[in-house]
Amino acid sequence: MNQVDTAPQNLQKNMNHLTEINDLSLEDITFIFQKAKEYAHLLHNKRAIDPVLKGKVLINLFFENSTRTRTSFELAIKKLGGDVINWNSDTSSLNKGESFNDTIQTLNAMNPDAVIIRHSEYGAPEYLSKHMCCPVINAGDSWREHPSQALLDAFTIKEEFGDIDGLTIGICGDIAHSRVAHSNINLLTKLGATLHIIAPEQLMPKSLNSPSVKTFTSLKDGLNSCSIIMALRIQKERLKESLDISDQQYHKDFGLTEDSLKYATHDIKVMHPGPMNRGIEISDVIADDPERSLILKQVRNGVPVRMAILERVINS
Ligand code: NCD
Repeated sequence: MNQVDTAPQNLQKNMNHLTEINDLSLEDITFIFQKAKEYAHLLHNKRAIDPVLKGKVLINLFFENSTRTRTSFELAIKKLGGDVINWNSDTSSLNKGESFNDTIQTLNAMNPDAVIIRHSEYGAPEYLSKHMCCPVINAGDSWREHPSQALLDAFTIKEEFGDIDGLTIGICGDIAHSRVAHSNINLLTKLGATLHIIAPEQLMPKSLNSPSVKTFTSLKDGLNSCSIIMALRIQKERLKESLDISDQQYHKDFGLTEDSLKYATHDIKVMHPGPMNRGIEISDVIADDPERSLILKQVRNGVPVRMAILERVINS
């Protein structure tokens, strides 16, 4: 990414941003989980919610496609009484030749109260946080980090199991190219989980240096002692070479199916951040299993968790 010539004036010091899991202390995480629980309760019971974002206008700055993340940030902002502008790269002046830097400086000059960014370039949210006068929240950059997804995944696990410390959690799929995997590895190990990272050699990251992380190239072995297994999509848009393995073979070897889950405990819970590629990383039966699948709970929890994140980042 090119550097801008002049940084905007009046950049606030010590401003809160959420660009990666490491921005969060354990105290921040505890606050987010407690607040998310309160918000989930209020939303579920259709009770009044304190409009802590009243008068604030946020920009959803999405340079990549999104269904869940963008909509749930928008809902979260509106539920907290704030306003949101859904900026769209397809209809912006980027298509008239304007540079990324000029777009950023232009939006910054309008003084938004926060910006939520998704971008395919590594580190775009950090870059933005250094060049804007408002808090910046990362809604997913390249294969690097997707902190709000990891927080809603961890919140969902905590709601289901009471505690994350001591759990063994499997993550199976394209770990090398998944920002969801990277943020979840950072967050769940910080919260005391042991992770079983399961992928074919080609989709396994080169280095995973944590004593709490074990790697497996066999799903059957990796499922051993897991309370939860999270399936991830193959990020075909990020693969430099074609996969050594066909979709059918992948489904047989790494897909979550009734057959493969015979190697897990009978009460294992299944997660997926979406979008799902049914018939590849997960079968219909498992995705829609009302007992085992937490997938729609993850989506539902996205709203209260993002409300809590917004409150922490913008109002503290
Ligand atoms: C993920 C993403 O965009 O990183 N989805 C999401 O935000 N819920 C996962 C993916 O694209 O595979």
